[in-house]
Amino acid sequence: MRNIILCGFMGCGKTTLAKSLAQNYGMELIDTDEEIVKAEGRPIAEIFYADGEPYFRELETKLIKKLAERNNCVISLGGGLAANEKNHPYLKKAGIVILLDCGIEQTLRRITGDKTRPLTAGGKEDIKKRYYARLPLYKAVADATVDSSKSRRKTLENAIKVLEELK
Ligand code: S3P
Repeated sequence: MRNIILCGFMGCGKTTLAKSLAQNYGMELIDTDEEIVKAEGRPIAEIFYADGEPYFRELETKLIKKLAERNNCVISLGGGLAANEKNHPYLKKAGIVILLDCGIEQTLRRITGDKTRPLTAGGKEDIKKRYYARLPLYKAVADATVDSSKSRRKTLENAIKVLEELK
């Protein structure tokens, strides 16, 4: 089966939905943040602080290039991966891309003050600016958008409906 790729802003629920979809379809689960942490042997925040964001972005691009060769996986992307246009051809090649979006208010409630995410350190206004700057980039690569502002079950139902239409 073609890969299912979940993109979207931090806190939109990519990791949770990816787990449910992988279980539902019997597919392998891959989380790009986890893959990078495993390969580097250190947390994301440490990679950002020690080597800078551009270094992390290079790791993301190398990884998605490699993952585009795989099949039968549900791939949950780090929030910046699909916001980088350079990665769009690899994402398109990799499979069906679904954008998850829970809206700005929920996003702020879910991620403000989260110390594990280096890009939330600038506070609410900064998060808001980044969210609106990224949305068109996510939409440009996504085959469909799924609302993730309701319950986990509702999000899964929405995603399955959308995927069945796209297959
Ligand atoms: C980032 C999102 C994070 C992680 C890193 C950068 C971003 O992943 O890749 O902190 O640029 O939005 P999540 O979307 O899983 O939080």
